[in-house]
Amino acid sequence: MIESIINRASCGRLEAPAPSKEHMELMFQAALRAPDHRGLKPWEYIVFEGEEALNRLGDYLLQASLKEQPDLGEEAQLKIKGKPHRAPMVIVAVAKAQNHPKVPHIEEVLSVGAGVQNLILGAYDLGYGVYWRTGGVAYNDYLKEPLGLGYEDTIVGFIYLGTPSIELKSKPVPKVEEFVRKG
Ligand SMILES: Cc1cc2nc3c(=O)[nH]c(=O)nc-3n(C[C@H](O)[C@H](O)[C@H](O)COP(=O)(O)O)c2cc1C
Repeated sequence: MIESIINRASCGRLEAPAPSKEHMELMFQAALRAPDHRGLKPWEYIVFEGEEALNRLGDYLLQASLKEQPDLGEEAQLKIKGKPHRAPMVIVAVAKAQNHPKVPHIEEVLSVGAGVQNLILGAYDLGYGVYWRTGGVAYNDYLKEPLGLGYEDTIVGFIYLGTPSIELKSKPVPKVEEFVRKG
């Protein structure tokens, strides 16, 4: 387990097949065990799988981008629309924060971040390739409506999932003493 966490590597080159239904269930169970102050469960995961769903997500990305930048050129538009097709499955991870009086907003977003990391580690452990992206469009408010999100919701990432089409290379582990000190 600890080895799998240390050796984890993102994979930007993903192909079919996407994770199986059974494996997705396990990965989501892992995600839903994220630490969660006061049990607010501020998590939502929206799964886009297959050609039609990925096309739809591409349209959402493009329409939202055009609202911010109406003069986007044809090439840029095609690039944005094609982004979800970098994997057979994309999960949009969302913090549906409740803004509880005793739980600062950031803690709800952090809980989704922890959930995403659990999901990513699960995917890696099960042999899948995975890449956590945001890009500017995650912070584009126009994306919220087509995704069925409220204005207060936060997109924490687009999680690209599939089968690695290249050999995964783990990055060197940073030196512990450079980031850790005694208090
Ligand atoms: C919140 C968050 C957003 C990220 N967004 C992007 C992104 O938009 N594009 C990108 O290339 N990497 C992004 N990354 C980084 C990659 O997911 C990945 O961690 C990085 O390429 C390092 O690779 P590694 O995970 O194998 O160490 C993001 C990471 C986090 C935590």
